[in-house]
Amino acid sequence: MTTMTLPPGPSLPRFAQGAVVLTARLRGMRRMRARYGDAFTVNVPIFGRAVVISDPDEAKQLFTASTDLVENVRPNLGRVLGPGSLFALTGEEHREQRRLLVPPFHGRRLAAHERTIEDETVRETATWPEDRAFPALPSMLRITLNAILRAVFGADGDELADLREMLPAWVAYGSRLLVLPIPKTDLGRWSPWGRLWIARRRYDAIVDRLIDKAAAEDLDRRDDVLALLLQSRYDDGSPMSRAQIADHLLSLLVAGHETTATTLAWAIERLRRHPALLRDLAEEADAGGGALREATITEVQRTRPVIDVVGRHVTADGYRLGRWTLPEGCTVLVAVALMHEDEALFPDPLTFDPSRFLGVRPDLYQWIPFGGGRRRCPGAAFATMEMNVVLRTVLRHFTLMPTTEPGERRHSRGVANAPAKGGVAVVRRRSPEAMPPSTIGTAGARP
Ligand code: HEM
Repeated sequence: MTTMTLPPGPSLPRFAQGAVVLTARLRGMRRMRARYGDAFTVNVPIFGRAVVISDPDEAKQLFTASTDLVENVRPNLGRVLGPGSLFALTGEEHREQRRLLVPPFHGRRLAAHERTIEDETVRETATWPEDRAFPALPSMLRITLNAILRAVFGADGDELADLREMLPAWVAYGSRLLVLPIPKTDLGRWSPWGRLWIARRRYDAIVDRLIDKAAAEDLDRRDDVLALLLQSRYDDGSPMSRAQIADHLLSLLVAGHETTATTLAWAIERLRRHPALLRDLAEEADAGGGALREATITEVQRTRPVIDVVGRHVTADGYRLGRWTLPEGCTVLVAVALMHEDEALFPDPLTFDPSRFLGVRPDLYQWIPFGGGRRRCPGAAFATMEMNVVLRTVLRHFTLMPTTEPGERRHSRGVANAPAKGGVAVVRRRSPEAMPPSTIGTAGARP
């Protein structure tokens, strides 16, 4: 019989450890790392016994492990997004579906979205007040929701307006339900899950209408994800079912919207506290450059990762992970924030210093805001391009005013960690003569 060897960890009761996770996750994890080293075992509600790691070699081994040994963390977003969502799929089926979903967010198709994102940013920021503090996050949420809706469905229209109205509340509600047991019977609007399912049926009806409309068009001329999925065929020649398409599209909308917006809100929060950098970035944007901006986005994601743990579920007894031998059913959580604060990987790790990434691509198993390996975020290139275009557009149209206020604290919104005050901005609009021309087509998708 294999002997299991788990890292050491606190012996506090599960509810007490759970309280630490809920109230002070990062502080609690830092304390445990100081006490037990870079791997420790916790016992928390939802996951039970979970091994937390932050060593890049162990994370790489986990992220690239065979799906016979390791699968996505349980529970995961698939519970609310549907059984056809990438989050819920496993093994070969997951690999197959990923192969279909990744191309629309890369290469030539990526460049096509740049203009839309710049237009969305100009339209949204037109309402920004001058010389008055306001949270940037609501604007960033609207820009990223519109950008992903357009990328997924192509043209605008009534259906998109309906989705724009329903999705934010759905995401907020669904992420709170993530950990609640799913009832065997549907109690309709009297139960939390019932309410979520009612909203889901409304979403399905909207997607049905969009599919009917798309089917009447020449799909070859369209570049959006819906058109691509409608044309895709399995090996036996059969098309993807409407339910599968609806699950995929919902996953992209949910996963691609809040994560990108909260990272952008953190970018505003960080930049205002680094006036010299802010000046350099504004000059660079005027001159049509982007290297410092790309490095800055990478550093924002290192120092303020909006998803702070990425999880996996061990599916084979005696799985050997680095120094440890883990039992079947064990959860492994890769602590993104702890890895990003490791002095051996990033000297002076708590200092916000984009120059560490100037002209240097991050190592994708040491810099992991998008997770890693078989399940690494398929929207990473799209999100990177999007953040680049939004920041570039803001820097060209506005002077962002620096502040000496202390940094904003982290606040969990369910899916992502946001700045607690929403990334407070104070801006001054630049005169049209001072604005440089647009440089569409130059926003790289670096990492
Ligand atoms: C800054 C923005 C974003 C961040 C920080 C982010 C982060 C993540 C992380 C940490 C994961 C889990 C990866 C893993 O388990 O190893 C993930 C998965 C995923 N993300 Fe993103 N994401 C972002 C934007 C996007 C966008 C724009 C899209 C859609 C276009 C997207 C779609 C997805 C999907 C579908 C998955 C599930 C992948 C799978 O299980 O195979 N994300 N993302």
